[in-house]
Amino acid sequence: MGNISKLKPILLVFLFFLLTHISIGASTPRYIPVDNIALNCGTYGNSTDRYYQHEWIGDIEPSKFAPKEERNQKSITSNAKSRDPSVETVPFMNARLSYSQFTYVFHVTSGPKFVRLFFYADSYSDFDGSLAFFTVKANSKFTLLSNFSASILANYLGGSKRLSKEFCINVEEDQKLNLTFIPKPSANSSRFFAFVNGIEIVSMPTYLYYSNPEKSSPPYVGQSSQFSIDNNSALEMIHRLNIGGSSLSPTEDTGMFREWSDSTYLLSGGVIPRQPNLTPNYSAIPNYTAPDNVYRSAITMGPNITWNLQSNLTWGLSVDPGFDYLVRLHFCEIEPSITMAGERPFIIYIDNKTAEDNADVIMWSGGRDTPWYQDYVVRVDQDKSTLFIALHPGKATNAIYDAILNGAEVFKLNDGDNNLAGPNPASTLLPSPPPAQQTASTSNSRKTRFIAIGTGVGLFLALLTLACCVVVWKLRSSKRYGSYYPVSKCWFWSDQNKGKSSRTKASSLPEELCRQFSLEEIKTATHNFNEELVIGVGGFGKVYKGFIDDGTTTVAIKRLNPESKQGAKEFWKEIEMLSQLRHVHLVSLIGYSNDEREMTLVYDYMSNGTLREHLYDTNKDPLSWIQRLEICVGAACGLNYLHTGVKHPIIHRDVKTTNILLDENYVAKVSDFGLSKEGQDDKAVSTMVKGTFGYLDPDYARRRQLTEKSDVYSFGVVLFEVLCARKALNPKLEEEQWNLANWARKCIEKGTMGEIIDPNLMGKVAPECFKVYVDIAESCVRDQGSQRPTMNDVMDKLNFALQRQKEANAAKETINPYGRETYTEVLSFHVSDTTEACRYNNIFSGHVSESDSGTWLTTNNTGMTYPSLESDTVKCEDVFTDTSNISKA
Ligand SMILES: *[C@@H]1O[C@H](CO)[C@@H](O)[C@H](O)[C@H]1NC(C)=O
Ligand SMILES: *[C@@H]1O[C@H](CO)[C@@H](O)[C@H](O)[C@H]1NC(C)=O
Ligand SMILES: *[C@@H]1O[C@H](CO)[C@@H](O)[C@H](O)[C@H]1NC(C)=O
Ligand SMILES: *[C@@H]1O[C@H](CO)[C@@H](O)[C@H](O)[C@H]1NC(C)=O
Ligand SMILES: *[C@@H]1O[C@H](CO)[C@@H](O)[C@H](O)[C@H]1NC(C)=O
Ligand SMILES: *[C@@H]1O[C@H](CO)[C@@H](O)[C@H](O)[C@H]1NC(C)=O
Ligand SMILES: *[C@@H]1O[C@H](CO)[C@@H](O)[C@H](O)[C@H]1NC(C)=O
Ligand SMILES: *[C@@H]1O[C@H](CO)[C@@H](O)[C@H](O)[C@H]1NC(C)=O
Ligand SMILES: *[C@@H]1O[C@H](CO)[C@@H](O)[C@H](O)[C@H]1NC(C)=O
Repeated sequence: MGNISKLKPILLVFLFFLLTHISIGASTPRYIPVDNIALNCGTYGNSTDRYYQHEWIGDIEPSKFAPKEERNQKSITSNAKSRDPSVETVPFMNARLSYSQFTYVFHVTSGPKFVRLFFYADSYSDFDGSLAFFTVKANSKFTLLSNFSASILANYLGGSKRLSKEFCINVEEDQKLNLTFIPKPSANSSRFFAFVNGIEIVSMPTYLYYSNPEKSSPPYVGQSSQFSIDNNSALEMIHRLNIGGSSLSPTEDTGMFREWSDSTYLLSGGVIPRQPNLTPNYSAIPNYTAPDNVYRSAITMGPNITWNLQSNLTWGLSVDPGFDYLVRLHFCEIEPSITMAGERPFIIYIDNKTAEDNADVIMWSGGRDTPWYQDYVVRVDQDKSTLFIALHPGKATNAIYDAILNGAEVFKLNDGDNNLAGPNPASTLLPSPPPAQQTASTSNSRKTRFIAIGTGVGLFLALLTLACCVVVWKLRSSKRYGSYYPVSKCWFWSDQNKGKSSRTKASSLPEELCRQFSLEEIKTATHNFNEELVIGVGGFGKVYKGFIDDGTTTVAIKRLNPESKQGAKEFWKEIEMLSQLRHVHLVSLIGYSNDEREMTLVYDYMSNGTLREHLYDTNKDPLSWIQRLEICVGAACGLNYLHTGVKHPIIHRDVKTTNILLDENYVAKVSDFGLSKEGQDDKAVSTMVKGTFGYLDPDYARRRQLTEKSDVYSFGVVLFEVLCARKALNPKLEEEQWNLANWARKCIEKGTMGEIIDPNLMGKVAPECFKVYVDIAESCVRDQGSQRPTMNDVMDKLNFALQRQKEANAAKETINPYGRETYTEVLSFHVSDTTEACRYNNIFSGHVSESDSGTWLTTNNTGMTYPSLESDTVKCEDVFTDTSNISKA
């Protein structure tokens, strides 16, 4: 007995080791890089990134990575001027900047390396971001970037200031790897400078992309020769696509932290076969070539043989003209019906030239579920900026006349001058779809890396931490955090016409697929629409929490209420809208299902629910003031994108706190575009006024002319709701206080605004921030649309308010904003005539009820009722025709 009790701790430790080891086993990277350096430029000591607690090393002395610079021309380090709360601080918010050249020297082993550069396109200290033009050279040999302007690129990409570039460079025996940043020579007093925020150096397997001299080199398409990518070449990653699947973060890679994008760039229609449980059989290629998830999904042409034989499955990828490109196509036959070579032969065209006339995945790989890749090198001529990859069915006696592609990587190869740099994108206001890698983020990036370090060192405690982290990471669902995605459209197979599969396109210029689910999948995901999984009710119908891909991914599933008349139209509207819009502050649509008259939409799951449920009538912990400000900035950013970031401005029309959702990091995402309407040419007077009472723009209600300013009004109401933690419309209060916007304006007039704020915020709001915030909110709810700011102004000013608060917090630990003296300025706000809005409000003398999703009204002056509990969206057309003083302008 004594012996056993002595053994107990050891047994426990052993058991523990076993458990932790097992949970890690699944995530053990296939490849462990020898060199794995992450440098957070412009910082001192080590820092950890926000999500994965991974360590980034600083470059300020005495760091061994401090850059070498010219004697009298010291570089400086600084914080970014503005801060996008969705971009993580490490490595993006600090930079090293210099008017003259500086060089980082990395002592690494020989062999090929990934070199990743991270930039945050902003101004820093005295450095004006628009004057950053510079060259980056590797080992004084390769020009990686030239005349590079992060701000031009960021503008081109639609505003995301967070940029990354990935290169492959071979380091020879006894050589170092050095990276030199050289500002463009300045001609006059406004001096150009160079900067960098983060650098990553990661080893890769010797012949991952470089040609193995013992094997045949890739064919040079159109040249009947081969093209060897030897040790003297440098490559730049331009596209890395998980075709048919979702984006994969660097930590989901096989150990090299490559990011795989889900932008498909597909120009034709297609269908997506998926085998989410497949364990690929790596008998033909190394298991680190690409993550399993790349091989578990694909795009094929689909079942219509007639159509297939008449068309190509075509991708159009943007590239810089005048370079050679390495094109790697990843394949894996995953369709159960195909078991033998010869059943799916196809032709591959690259740049409109035949690259392969008898492509056959099973013939190449030796079997089903067996990954394979093919490399091709192609020259893109001076006049072309799109590289087409097209697949066409081949013919054979037992062929199914289809083609398949699971993944693709495109690398630019250095030219004769060892240059990889292309010209800056032409400055356009409306971005065209950018190359995927330029929007790459490192957000979810540190998972596998951390594991690599942990298992490499073999530290026991590290394993424990890892086990916990793995669980946390597994719970994270959003893979899109912090990056903007190209504007894209949705193509799908529609079973609208009596279940007959017909190819339908949602809109003219398709670029991206959204996933179609079968009703079965949706039922499994929601446990047959189990009421216990209902997480919300909206104008559209119920929203369920669901679990797809065998429970590995949590999603939100909106089920169209079959009785809802407005539904069907808005269903397609929403699919079309959402699939075109990708933004970090908009809820992402994953797919849809349309079977047996059961229509559902599948979205990213927002684990923290709606903003409203964190404000009042809740037992959740109150949000801090900083959190509230960050959420408001985020939501404003999403709305601003709708108003200005797309070709035709989109008016949300139903901005409210239940349509602002929060993800696991409390990042705001605007949702519910069911009512959205493209603006611009919509100057016509609309007959139907839609929206939610309490948030409805009085100017719009009167004139029925929809503009972006109606969203601004509603957003102003949201701002007051956030500050005061009270409903937009609360008929339980005195009549004067029913409508929050009107009441708040009165309070501002009287100088009592400070008294009606959320008691949880008492003493937490800095006066200088309060002033800015109330000022913005008041300006948003002004009576006339023309008096209100644009969403862009709102976003900027809120950001300013956030900065003020942070500065004040830093200066002072607790602040007491109360006592009227503090707010005498607030007293003097000019408020335009509120009577109009009050009169408008009084029109609704009807019956008021409550529902989970907001306050809504039924009216009795027309006899109209809106009894559906599921509807928080009220059509008020008839109500308005009753009122005599509506002026149609
Ligand atoms: C910083 O991180 C590096 C690499 O993770 C590690 O080797 C070093 O000891 C750390 N330094 C400090 C001061 O923690
Ligand atoms: C290329 O570099 C690798 C790693 O340094 C080396 O093993 C290989 O022999 C080199 N190949 C050629 C053809 O020089
Ligand atoms: C960078 O590397 C090149 C080639 O190895 C070498 O000529 C140059 O002196 C190096 N620069 C610095 C600052 O170490
Ligand atoms: C200096 O050059 C920059 C860019 O070439 C130009 O924008 C700026 O106007 C010039 N400034 C003066 C003072 O000439
Ligand atoms: C990957 O392949 C290597 C070599 O074939 C093997 O040792 C390793 O166990 C494999 N890893 C996984 C996770 O399958
Ligand atoms: C198949 O495609 C052809 C050509 O586009 C079209 O005419 C036909 O209707 C399609 N068949 C079905 C069953 O959808
Ligand atoms: C498919 O693409 C190739 C290369 O661009 C072209 O030559 C061929 O005509 C296309 N086939 C069809 C049916 O569109
Ligand atoms: C190449 O193929 C694409 C896609 O099919 C087509 O749009 C383009 O016109 C073709 N270019 C040439 C030169 O044939
Ligand atoms: C550098 O980029 C700017 C902005 O795109 C462009 O106007 C200028 O001509 C470029 N200079 C060179 C030398 O390429």
